[in-house]
Amino acid sequence: MAVRKLTDNVYEVGVIHWDRDIFDDLIPLPDGTTYNSYLVFGKDKTVLIDTVDPSKVDILFHNLDMAGVKKIDYIICQHAEQDHSGSLPLVLKRYPGSVCVTNQKCKDILLLHLDVTEDQFQVITDGEKLDIGGKTLEFIFAPWVHWPETMFTYVAEDNLLFSCDFLGGHLTSTDLFVTDFKRVENKVKLYYAEIMMPFRKNIVNHLKKLDDYKIDMIAPSHGQVHKPIGQIIESYKGWVSDDVKNLVVIPYASTHDSVAKMVEYFVDALVAHGVNAKPYHVTRSDIGAMTLDLVDAATVVLASPTIISGPHPDIAYSAFLVNMIRPKFKYLSVIYSFGWASKAVDVLTGMITSIKPEILPPVASKGFPRAEAFAEIDRLAGQIAENHKKLGIL
Ligand code: FEO
Repeated sequence: MAVRKLTDNVYEVGVIHWDRDIFDDLIPLPDGTTYNSYLVFGKDKTVLIDTVDPSKVDILFHNLDMAGVKKIDYIICQHAEQDHSGSLPLVLKRYPGSVCVTNQKCKDILLLHLDVTEDQFQVITDGEKLDIGGKTLEFIFAPWVHWPETMFTYVAEDNLLFSCDFLGGHLTSTDLFVTDFKRVENKVKLYYAEIMMPFRKNIVNHLKKLDDYKIDMIAPSHGQVHKPIGQIIESYKGWVSDDVKNLVVIPYASTHDSVAKMVEYFVDALVAHGVNAKPYHVTRSDIGAMTLDLVDAATVVLASPTIISGPHPDIAYSAFLVNMIRPKFKYLSVIYSFGWASKAVDVLTGMITSIKPEILPPVASKGFPRAEAFAEIDRLAGQIAENHKKLGIL
Protein backbone atom coordinates (compact mmCIF):
# COMPACT_ATOMS: atom_id res chain seq x y z
CA MET A 1 0.00 0.00 0.00
CA ALA A 2 1.21 3.49 -0.79
CA VAL A 3 2.27 6.17 1.63
CA ARG A 4 -0.65 8.61 1.94
CA LYS A 5 -0.36 12.23 3.07
CA LEU A 6 -2.71 13.67 5.74
CA THR A 7 -1.11 17.07 6.07
CA ASP A 8 2.36 18.62 6.08
CA ASN A 9 4.83 16.06 7.43
CA VAL A 10 2.10 13.63 8.51
CA TYR A 11 1.53 10.39 6.55
CA GLU A 12 -0.47 7.19 6.82
CA VAL A 13 1.90 4.22 6.40
CA GLY A 14 -0.22 1.35 7.69
CA VAL A 15 -1.91 -1.59 6.03
CA ILE A 16 -5.18 -2.26 4.22
CA HIS A 17 -6.08 -5.88 5.02
CA TRP A 18 -8.59 -6.35 2.21
CA ASP A 19 -9.47 -9.98 2.88
CA ARG A 20 -9.44 -10.23 6.67
CA ASP A 21 -12.78 -11.87 7.38
CA ILE A 22 -12.99 -12.09 11.17
CA PHE A 23 -11.66 -10.15 14.15
CA ASP A 24 -10.89 -11.64 17.58
CA ASP A 25 -12.40 -14.88 16.20
CA LEU A 26 -15.70 -13.15 16.91
CA ILE A 27 -16.58 -10.17 14.72
CA PRO A 28 -17.16 -10.85 10.99
CA LEU A 29 -15.38 -8.37 8.70
CA PRO A 30 -17.28 -8.52 5.40
CA ASP A 31 -15.43 -5.42 4.19
CA GLY A 32 -11.96 -6.24 5.56
CA THR A 33 -10.18 -3.72 7.79
CA THR A 34 -7.16 -1.46 8.03
CA TYR A 35 -4.43 -1.04 10.62
CA ASN A 36 -3.63 2.64 10.34
CA SER A 37 -0.16 3.67 11.36
CA TYR A 38 0.80 7.34 11.17
CA LEU A 39 4.20 8.84 10.57
CA VAL A 40 4.87 12.32 11.92
CA PHE A 41 8.05 14.17 10.98
CA GLY A 42 9.10 16.87 13.43
CA LYS A 43 12.15 19.04 12.80
CA ASP A 44 13.98 17.16 15.55
CA LYS A 45 12.28 13.80 15.94
CA THR A 46 10.43 11.22 13.85
CA VAL A 47 7.37 9.57 15.36
CA LEU A 48 5.30 6.52 14.44
CA ILE A 49 1.81 6.48 15.93
CA ASP A 50 0.73 2.85 16.40
CA THR A 51 2.06 -0.10 14.42
CA VAL A 52 0.07 -2.79 12.59
CA ASP A 53 -1.08 -6.35 13.02
CA PRO A 54 2.12 -8.46 13.10
CA SER A 55 0.91 -10.61 10.20
CA LYS A 56 1.33 -7.52 7.95
CA VAL A 57 4.47 -5.92 9.37
CA ASP A 58 6.35 -6.36 6.07
CA ILE A 59 3.96 -3.88 4.44
CA LEU A 60 4.53 -1.36 7.23
CA PHE A 61 8.29 -1.68 6.75
CA HIS A 62 7.95 -1.31 2.98
CA ASN A 63 5.91 1.87 3.48
CA LEU A 64 8.42 3.28 5.95
CA ASP A 65 11.18 2.64 3.40
CA MET A 66 9.08 4.33 0.71
CA ALA A 67 8.69 7.34 3.01
CA GLY A 68 12.49 7.51 3.35
CA VAL A 69 12.52 6.73 7.05
CA LYS A 70 15.98 5.81 8.32
CA LYS A 71 15.39 6.51 11.98
CA ILE A 72 12.39 6.50 14.30
CA ASP A 73 12.71 8.21 17.67
CA TYR A 74 9.33 7.53 19.23
CA ILE A 75 6.73 4.82 18.66
CA ILE A 76 3.50 5.98 20.28
CA CYS A 77 1.36 3.06 21.48
CA GLN A 78 -2.16 4.36 21.99
CA HIS A 79 -3.64 0.93 22.67
CA ALA A 80 -2.14 -2.45 23.58
CA GLU A 81 -4.39 -4.63 21.40
CA GLN A 82 -2.34 -6.62 18.92
CA ASP A 83 -3.80 -5.14 15.73
CA HIS A 84 -2.02 -1.88 16.66
CA SER A 85 0.80 -2.92 18.97
CA GLY A 86 1.62 -6.45 17.86
CA SER A 87 4.49 -5.30 15.63
CA LEU A 88 6.08 -3.13 18.34
CA PRO A 89 8.99 -5.52 19.11
CA LEU A 90 9.85 -5.77 15.41
CA VAL A 91 9.72 -2.00 14.90
CA LEU A 92 11.88 -1.41 17.99
CA LYS A 93 14.40 -3.91 16.63
CA ARG A 94 14.44 -2.46 13.10
CA TYR A 95 15.00 1.10 14.38
CA PRO A 96 17.69 0.91 17.10
CA GLY A 97 17.42 3.79 19.57
CA SER A 98 13.66 4.06 19.17
CA VAL A 99 11.55 4.03 22.29
CA CYS A 100 7.89 3.23 22.91
CA VAL A 101 5.98 6.19 24.35
CA THR A 102 2.84 5.22 26.21
CA ASN A 103 1.02 5.35 29.54
CA GLN A 104 1.79 3.11 32.51
CA LYS A 105 -1.30 0.91 32.06
CA CYS A 106 -0.56 0.32 28.38
CA LYS A 107 3.08 -0.40 29.15
CA ASP A 108 2.07 -3.01 31.74
CA ILE A 109 -0.17 -4.77 29.22
CA LEU A 110 2.45 -4.65 26.47
CA LEU A 111 5.02 -6.19 28.82
CA LEU A 112 2.55 -9.03 29.42
CA HIS A 113 1.86 -9.73 25.77
CA LEU A 114 5.04 -8.90 23.86
CA ASP A 115 8.74 -9.62 23.86
CA VAL A 116 9.70 -6.14 25.07
CA THR A 117 11.61 -4.88 28.09
CA GLU A 118 11.21 -2.11 30.66
CA ASP A 119 14.04 -0.02 29.22
CA GLN A 120 12.29 0.28 25.85
CA PHE A 121 9.53 2.50 27.24
CA GLN A 122 9.05 6.16 28.02
CA VAL A 123 5.97 6.55 30.23
CA ILE A 124 3.85 9.69 29.86
CA THR A 125 0.97 11.07 31.92
CA ASP A 126 -2.45 12.41 30.93
CA GLY A 127 -2.09 15.80 29.24
CA GLU A 128 1.69 15.51 28.87
CA LYS A 129 3.20 17.04 25.75
CA LEU A 130 6.08 15.90 23.59
CA ASP A 131 7.83 18.53 21.48
CA ILE A 132 9.31 16.98 18.33
CA GLY A 133 10.28 20.25 16.67
CA GLY A 134 7.54 22.31 15.03
CA LYS A 135 4.93 19.82 16.17
CA THR A 136 3.74 19.11 19.70
CA LEU A 137 2.06 15.83 20.57
CA GLU A 138 -0.34 15.96 23.51
CA PHE A 139 -1.54 12.71 25.06
CA ILE A 140 -5.18 12.51 26.10
CA PHE A 141 -6.06 9.49 28.23
CA ALA A 142 -9.31 7.80 27.18
CA PRO A 143 -9.66 4.69 29.35
CA TRP A 144 -12.38 2.25 28.42
CA VAL A 145 -12.95 3.08 24.82
CA HIS A 146 -13.00 -0.66 25.19
CA TRP A 147 -9.76 -1.45 27.05
CA PRO A 148 -8.49 0.35 30.18
CA GLU A 149 -5.28 1.79 28.71
CA THR A 150 -6.38 3.60 25.57
CA MET A 151 -5.25 7.15 24.81
CA PHE A 152 -5.52 9.68 22.01
CA THR A 153 -2.78 11.90 20.58
CA TYR A 154 -3.42 15.52 19.59
CA VAL A 155 -1.20 17.65 17.36
CA ALA A 156 -2.04 21.28 18.11
CA GLU A 157 -0.16 22.72 15.12
CA ASP A 158 -2.36 20.70 12.73
CA ASN A 159 -5.63 20.60 14.75
CA LEU A 160 -5.29 16.86 14.26
CA LEU A 161 -6.48 14.10 16.61
CA PHE A 162 -5.28 10.50 16.41
CA SER A 163 -8.19 8.69 18.04
CA CYS A 164 -7.13 5.02 18.07
CA ASP A 165 -10.16 2.63 17.80
CA PHE A 166 -12.52 5.48 18.75
CA LEU A 167 -14.37 6.88 15.70
CA GLY A 168 -12.86 4.11 13.59
CA GLY A 169 -14.62 1.36 11.68
CA HIS A 170 -13.78 -1.85 9.87
CA LEU A 171 -13.80 -0.93 6.19
CA THR A 172 -11.30 -0.77 3.37
CA SER A 173 -10.66 1.88 0.75
CA THR A 174 -7.70 3.39 -1.05
CA ASP A 175 -9.23 6.81 -0.27
CA LEU A 176 -7.53 8.02 2.88
CA PHE A 177 -10.33 10.46 3.70
CA VAL A 178 -14.03 9.71 4.09
CA THR A 179 -15.75 10.01 0.73
CA ASP A 180 -18.99 8.09 1.35
CA PHE A 181 -20.15 9.26 4.77
CA LYS A 182 -23.16 6.93 5.04
CA ARG A 183 -20.99 3.86 4.43
CA VAL A 184 -18.44 4.99 6.99
CA GLU A 185 -21.07 6.04 9.52
CA ASN A 186 -22.60 2.54 9.42
CA LYS A 187 -19.21 0.88 9.91
CA VAL A 188 -18.26 3.21 12.76
CA LYS A 189 -21.66 2.60 14.37
CA LEU A 190 -21.24 -1.16 14.05
CA TYR A 191 -17.78 -1.03 15.62
CA TYR A 192 -19.24 1.07 18.45
CA ALA A 193 -22.12 -1.41 18.89
CA GLU A 194 -19.90 -4.47 18.91
CA ILE A 195 -17.22 -3.46 21.39
CA MET A 196 -17.68 0.07 22.75
CA MET A 197 -21.36 0.28 23.68
CA PRO A 198 -20.80 -1.32 27.13
CA PHE A 199 -18.59 1.70 27.90
CA ARG A 200 -21.11 4.28 26.65
CA LYS A 201 -20.86 6.48 29.76
CA ASN A 202 -17.06 6.63 29.50
CA ILE A 203 -17.34 7.63 25.86
CA VAL A 204 -19.72 10.47 26.76
CA ASN A 205 -16.90 11.81 28.94
CA HIS A 206 -14.29 11.36 26.21
CA LEU A 207 -16.44 13.36 23.82
CA LYS A 208 -16.84 16.12 26.42
CA LYS A 209 -13.07 16.17 26.91
CA LEU A 210 -12.54 16.68 23.19
CA ASP A 211 -14.75 19.80 23.27
CA ASP A 212 -11.71 21.61 24.71
CA TYR A 213 -9.66 21.00 21.57
CA LYS A 214 -9.83 22.58 18.15
CA ILE A 215 -10.00 19.60 15.82
CA ASP A 216 -10.19 19.76 12.03
CA MET A 217 -9.22 16.18 11.28
CA ILE A 218 -9.62 12.86 13.13
CA ALA A 219 -7.36 9.98 12.17
CA PRO A 220 -8.55 6.69 13.72
CA SER A 221 -6.69 3.38 13.75
CA HIS A 222 -9.24 1.62 11.52
CA GLY A 223 -10.95 2.90 8.39
CA GLN A 224 -10.79 6.37 6.92
CA VAL A 225 -9.79 9.82 8.19
CA HIS A 226 -12.62 12.19 9.11
CA LYS A 227 -12.37 15.69 7.63
CA PRO A 228 -14.54 17.55 8.37
CA ILE A 229 -15.46 15.97 11.69
CA GLY A 230 -18.87 17.48 12.54
CA GLN A 231 -21.12 14.77 11.11
CA ILE A 232 -19.42 11.78 12.74
CA ILE A 233 -19.19 13.53 16.12
CA GLU A 234 -22.91 14.37 16.00
CA SER A 235 -23.78 10.77 15.06
CA TYR A 236 -21.65 9.44 17.91
CA LYS A 237 -23.22 11.83 20.42
CA GLY A 238 -26.62 10.43 19.41
CA TRP A 239 -25.51 6.81 19.86
CA VAL A 240 -24.03 7.36 23.31
CA SER A 241 -26.88 9.58 24.53
CA ASP A 242 -29.81 8.19 26.53
CA ASP A 243 -32.15 8.91 23.61
CA VAL A 244 -33.88 5.89 22.06
CA LYS A 245 -35.91 5.49 18.89
CA ASN A 246 -39.43 4.26 18.26
CA LEU A 247 -38.19 0.77 17.42
CA VAL A 248 -38.75 -2.74 18.76
CA VAL A 249 -36.02 -5.31 18.03
CA ILE A 250 -37.36 -8.88 18.03
CA PRO A 251 -34.76 -11.68 18.00
CA TYR A 252 -36.72 -14.88 17.34
CA ALA A 253 -36.45 -18.57 16.53
CA SER A 254 -39.26 -20.96 15.71
CA THR A 255 -39.21 -24.75 15.69
CA HIS A 256 -42.79 -25.57 14.62
CA ASP A 257 -43.90 -22.18 13.30
CA SER A 258 -45.83 -21.12 16.44
CA VAL A 259 -43.37 -18.39 17.38
CA ALA A 260 -42.99 -17.30 13.75
CA LYS A 261 -46.77 -16.82 13.52
CA MET A 262 -46.83 -14.84 16.77
CA VAL A 263 -43.94 -12.64 15.66
CA GLU A 264 -45.63 -11.98 12.33
CA TYR A 265 -48.83 -10.96 14.13
CA PHE A 266 -46.85 -8.90 16.67
CA VAL A 267 -45.06 -6.91 13.96
CA ASP A 268 -48.40 -6.09 12.30
CA ALA A 269 -49.89 -5.07 15.66
CA LEU A 270 -46.93 -2.77 16.39
CA VAL A 271 -47.16 -1.19 12.95
CA ALA A 272 -50.90 -0.59 13.49
CA HIS A 273 -49.93 1.40 16.60
CA GLY A 274 -47.29 3.38 14.70
CA VAL A 275 -44.36 1.51 16.27
CA ASN A 276 -41.46 0.40 14.08
CA ALA A 277 -40.36 -3.21 14.41
CA LYS A 278 -37.40 -5.25 13.24
CA PRO A 279 -37.65 -9.03 13.62
CA TYR A 280 -34.41 -11.00 13.33
CA HIS A 281 -34.73 -14.73 12.69
CA VAL A 282 -31.53 -15.37 14.60
CA THR A 283 -30.76 -18.81 13.19
CA ARG A 284 -30.38 -17.23 9.77
CA SER A 285 -29.98 -13.44 10.22
CA ASP A 286 -26.98 -11.15 10.18
CA ILE A 287 -26.38 -10.65 13.90
CA GLY A 288 -24.27 -7.57 13.07
CA ALA A 289 -27.36 -5.89 11.58
CA MET A 290 -29.31 -6.71 14.74
CA THR A 291 -26.50 -5.25 16.84
CA LEU A 292 -26.76 -2.01 14.86
CA ASP A 293 -30.50 -1.74 15.57
CA LEU A 294 -29.89 -2.45 19.24
CA VAL A 295 -27.93 0.83 19.46
CA ASP A 296 -31.15 2.83 19.06
CA ALA A 297 -34.12 0.58 19.93
CA ALA A 298 -36.43 1.55 22.80
CA THR A 299 -37.73 -1.99 23.30
CA VAL A 300 -36.48 -5.56 22.88
CA VAL A 301 -38.82 -8.55 22.72
CA LEU A 302 -37.22 -12.00 22.74
CA ALA A 303 -39.36 -14.62 21.00
CA SER A 304 -38.63 -18.29 21.53
CA PRO A 305 -40.06 -21.78 21.43
CA THR A 306 -39.47 -23.95 24.48
CA ILE A 307 -36.80 -26.62 24.05
CA ILE A 308 -36.25 -29.06 26.92
CA SER A 309 -38.05 -26.64 29.29
CA GLY A 310 -35.86 -23.62 28.40
CA PRO A 311 -35.47 -21.14 25.53
CA HIS A 312 -34.05 -21.96 22.11
CA PRO A 313 -30.23 -21.83 22.46
CA ASP A 314 -29.94 -19.10 19.81
CA ILE A 315 -32.40 -16.89 21.73
CA ALA A 316 -30.41 -17.56 24.89
CA TYR A 317 -27.38 -16.43 22.86
CA SER A 318 -29.27 -13.26 21.85
CA ALA A 319 -30.04 -12.56 25.52
CA PHE A 320 -26.39 -13.17 26.39
CA LEU A 321 -25.29 -10.84 23.58
CA VAL A 322 -27.70 -8.10 24.68
CA ASN A 323 -26.45 -8.41 28.25
CA MET A 324 -22.85 -8.21 27.08
CA ILE A 325 -23.10 -5.21 24.74
CA ARG A 326 -25.51 -3.32 27.04
CA PRO A 327 -27.75 -1.33 24.71
CA LYS A 328 -29.80 1.49 26.20
CA PHE A 329 -33.31 0.11 25.52
CA LYS A 330 -35.96 0.80 28.15
CA TYR A 331 -38.42 -2.12 27.89
CA LEU A 332 -38.02 -5.87 27.61
CA SER A 333 -40.54 -8.66 27.09
CA VAL A 334 -40.75 -12.27 25.94
CA ILE A 335 -43.06 -14.07 23.53
CA TYR A 336 -42.84 -17.85 23.79
CA SER A 337 -44.54 -21.11 22.98
CA PHE A 338 -44.49 -24.36 24.91
CA GLY A 339 -46.01 -27.85 24.93
CA TRP A 340 -46.33 -28.79 28.61
CA ALA A 341 -44.02 -26.57 30.73
CA SER A 342 -41.52 -23.74 30.18
CA LYS A 343 -38.94 -21.75 32.08
CA ALA A 344 -38.12 -19.63 29.01
CA VAL A 345 -39.15 -16.30 30.58
CA ASP A 346 -37.21 -16.79 33.80
CA VAL A 347 -34.13 -18.01 31.96
CA LEU A 348 -34.12 -15.20 29.39
CA THR A 349 -34.93 -12.28 31.71
CA GLY A 350 -32.53 -13.74 34.28
CA MET A 351 -29.72 -13.50 31.74
CA ILE A 352 -30.11 -9.74 31.34
CA THR A 353 -28.54 -8.34 34.49
CA SER A 354 -26.10 -5.69 33.25
CA ILE A 355 -28.93 -3.33 32.29
CA LYS A 356 -32.25 -2.67 33.99
CA PRO A 357 -35.06 -2.40 31.45
CA GLU A 358 -38.65 -2.48 32.67
CA ILE A 359 -39.94 -6.00 32.05
CA LEU A 360 -43.36 -6.05 30.40
CA PRO A 361 -45.66 -9.07 31.01
CA PRO A 362 -44.78 -11.85 28.54
CA VAL A 363 -47.04 -13.56 26.03
CA ALA A 364 -47.34 -17.36 26.04
CA SER A 365 -48.95 -19.82 23.70
CA LYS A 366 -49.52 -23.46 24.64
CA GLY A 367 -49.10 -25.15 21.28
CA PHE A 368 -50.04 -23.37 18.09
CA PRO A 369 -51.23 -19.78 18.78
CA ARG A 370 -54.97 -19.18 18.91
CA ALA A 371 -57.24 -16.21 19.63
CA GLU A 372 -56.19 -15.91 23.27
CA ALA A 373 -52.50 -15.63 22.40
CA PHE A 374 -53.18 -13.11 19.62
CA ALA A 375 -55.24 -11.01 22.05
CA GLU A 376 -52.27 -11.02 24.43
CA ILE A 377 -49.99 -9.94 21.61
CA ASP A 378 -52.36 -7.03 20.91
CA ARG A 379 -52.14 -6.15 24.61
CA LEU A 380 -48.32 -6.17 24.52
CA ALA A 381 -48.17 -4.09 21.32
CA GLY A 382 -50.57 -1.54 22.84
CA GLN A 383 -48.53 -1.35 26.03
CA ILE A 384 -45.32 -0.78 24.06
CA ALA A 385 -47.00 1.97 22.03
CA GLU A 386 -48.15 3.69 25.24
CA ASN A 387 -44.65 3.46 26.70
CA HIS A 388 -43.08 4.88 23.55
CA LYS A 389 -45.58 7.76 23.70
CA LYS A 390 -44.52 8.45 27.29
CA LEU A 391 -40.91 8.61 26.10
CA GLY A 392 -41.96 11.17 23.48
CA ILE A 393 -40.77 9.01 20.58
CA LEU A 394 -44.25 8.16 19.20
FE1 FEO B 1 -8.31 -2.01 16.87
FE2 FEO B 1 -9.02 -2.45 20.15
O1 FEO B 1 -8.08 -2.71 18.62
